[in-house]
Amino acid sequence: MKKVGVILLAVTFLMTAVLAGCGSKSSGESGASDKVNIGVAIYKFDDTFMTGVRNAIADAAEGKAQVDIVDSQNSQPTQNDKIDLFITKKTNALAINPVDRTAAGVIIDKAKKSDIPVVFFNREPLPEDMKKWDKVYYVGAKAEESGTISGQLIVDYWKTHPEADKNKDGVLQYVMLKGEPGHQDAELRTKYSIKAVEDAGIKVEKLAEDTGMWDRVKGQEKMAAFLASHGDKIEAVFANNDDMALGAIEALKAAGYFKDNKYVPVVGVDATAPALKALEEGTLLGTVLNDAKNQGKATFNLAYVLAQGKTPTKDNIGYELTEGKYVWIPYKKITKENMDDVK
Ligand code: GAL
Ligand code: CA
Repeated sequence: MKKVGVILLAVTFLMTAVLAGCGSKSSGESGASDKVNIGVAIYKFDDTFMTGVRNAIADAAEGKAQVDIVDSQNSQPTQNDKIDLFITKKTNALAINPVDRTAAGVIIDKAKKSDIPVVFFNREPLPEDMKKWDKVYYVGAKAEESGTISGQLIVDYWKTHPEADKNKDGVLQYVMLKGEPGHQDAELRTKYSIKAVEDAGIKVEKLAEDTGMWDRVKGQEKMAAFLASHGDKIEAVFANNDDMALGAIEALKAAGYFKDNKYVPVVGVDATAPALKALEEGTLLGTVLNDAKNQGKATFNLAYVLAQGKTPTKDNIGYELTEGKYVWIPYKKITKENMDDVK
């Protein structure tokens, strides 16, 4: 009797397993069955660096989870709608790159109500929002660090090139192309790049500062305007990211720079493929690796563990967790000399 019961149980179990296996084929990107679903929203697809992060998330998910990656088109209301849809579809975890980082609080409230864990990335929520719920995480990089490194690139150049002080007044006259105002990377890179120059004992004078909104075309327009009003007085160009630095280089080329000994150092952040090309050509002095690959991978690993109802640890996500909820990916100084490390 007992034996028959056990056999029956085993048969029932096997049949259930087989049925479950056949019945739950999902139509996700990975075409996989029995996989957890993760809803990913990017602030906008049309952003060079975020495209790298997006691809890294998709790569990391290969064969593991079904990830739905959506474009928020740089609109917080659009992103909120997409998040509502993920919640309705009962996604197992959310990975959100907010359009407006101060909107994180509202997103957390929604997620908490449905008990869906959230991993924010690249745009850091305010500390008070991060404290709202224990299933809220952040993956990013320390913005101060990238600012300091880009400042050091200019310091290295200034100290080895006496001709860099064009008007010979012992002061570094610079222009600043800022990212999106309010974004932690824009505010802190702007502040810490200049702080690094001053900390090295170099006096500075800001000729102009304006936002290029992380955008190459806007960077070019703003740089053309800086050149129109300050011309050859400019001794260094700081850009909060590579796209704006590349735009600035276009404007400088149009003004006759990078030939016949006419030069001004330009620095950026990200180390995107086109920026590496500019390093090679000698138009971009240096950049800072913003590690899209590891940021994407850490975001996925964290969301994947959470989607399975597990508690993230260094062992199961493969990255150190600070204060139980932050993953910090380091930046790295990149010049022509070490650019092969990134490629
Ligand atoms: C920064 C990056 C910028 C831009 C921005 C978007 O970390 O350096 O290029 O992608 O994120 O939030
Ligand atoms: Ca000077």
